[in-house]
Amino acid sequence: MLKIDFTFVKDYVSAKDLLLLEDKVLQAHDFLHATEDSKFLGWLKLPFALTDEIEAKINFVANFVRKADVFVVIGVGGSYLGAKAFIESFDFLKSPKIYFLGTNLDPTYIHKIIAEIKDKDIFVNIVSKSGTTLEPLVSFLLLYDFMRKRYTKEELKERIIVTTGKKGFLRDLALKEGFVLFDIEEDVLGRYSVLSSVGLLPMAVKGIDIKEVLKGARDASLFCRKKSIEENLCYKYAALRNLLYKKGKFVEFFVFYKECLIYFGKWLEQLFAESQGKKFKGILPVTTLFTTDLHSLGQYLQEGKQMFFETVIFIKKSVVNFTIPKVDFDISAFNYLEGKDVDVLNNYAYLSTLYAHSTSLVPNIVLSVEELTPYTLGWLTFFFQKACAISCYLLDVNPFDQPGVEKYKKKMRSYLKQVE
Ligand code: PA5
Repeated sequence: MLKIDFTFVKDYVSAKDLLLLEDKVLQAHDFLHATEDSKFLGWLKLPFALTDEIEAKINFVANFVRKADVFVVIGVGGSYLGAKAFIESFDFLKSPKIYFLGTNLDPTYIHKIIAEIKDKDIFVNIVSKSGTTLEPLVSFLLLYDFMRKRYTKEELKERIIVTTGKKGFLRDLALKEGFVLFDIEEDVLGRYSVLSSVGLLPMAVKGIDIKEVLKGARDASLFCRKKSIEENLCYKYAALRNLLYKKGKFVEFFVFYKECLIYFGKWLEQLFAESQGKKFKGILPVTTLFTTDLHSLGQYLQEGKQMFFETVIFIKKSVVNFTIPKVDFDISAFNYLEGKDVDVLNNYAYLSTLYAHSTSLVPNIVLSVEELTPYTLGWLTFFFQKACAISCYLLDVNPFDQPGVEKYKKKMRSYLKQVE
């Protein structure tokens, strides 16, 4: 299903270096698996955790919402990026138009979305584990105010879906107003929550087969469980990125050749940046789309300051494809294009870039996948979550907190209270 190629890093990292890191990787494995019941590790169980009852509720609500024109998901960070990554990846599926709000405090953006949906049949899903994050709360208040003028109290009970933690303002509100309620378990943290109702409900509204997503994640979970640095390619990836970091490769470019995967990249950025960037350490994750960015960043990547490596996530086949047509003017200078399909060209672009970058000074790790399906994306999701957690332990940072972000949230609340 998935091939991982480490050939293009072997000039930068020796087998001896890798072996020296083995003990630490295995300790991280023991720590994760010995403490699976800890309050941070719900994500390890999520691929196996969907009960018949929750699945039925997700499908029931999703089928209802799918009849509407518009579905608005309100959330920020881990409460929207995973859902958006899946929805963008399968954008070709027929569904209500899905919007994301609550991702910032830009009134122009909020206004644009509200103006676009104002005459449509709307369902809303506010997702916030804490129920106290300001960005989603502000968008929710604005959208609610607009909806309450359009719908009766009874209609709002069906149209507002709240996905939140086991306590807090949003939960109390949902219970009081009778909104549809989905729980986020205490041990499921924001950026590790996509395989819970947080991501599964929006995916189901999009028409994505959530059972396949979870099947992929389950298979990845088994694939990534072996206590071995050589045989467990997830652990090998975590170890190699750590060794590259120690050699001054401070930035990891996640390279895609498919536009629909940009938000999977954004989800990876959040996962790795918020988990790893602590104690003034960590690899900076950056999403890049080739061939687009080869015409902007490409020159720098190849001949600029070498402080990075690339992790290429290459999908071989596309859902739709085009063959270069025969046209009625002379293109003899480009004869070689005729009859080729665009996927083939994209494949050559990938091979050529891999050649150009790896024969310069850019280490490349390559994950290649035959096709982008709910199964393969579920698989990749779990693979990267596990790789991220192990990577954090290798850097001696806690993968599951985000003290810096909390600091800004707290300060903003105190500013707002002063200007009351
Ligand atoms: O990963 C995280 O924990 C964060 O990015 C949160 O998902 C984000 O801050 C939103 O938090 P909440 O769901 O509590 O609104």
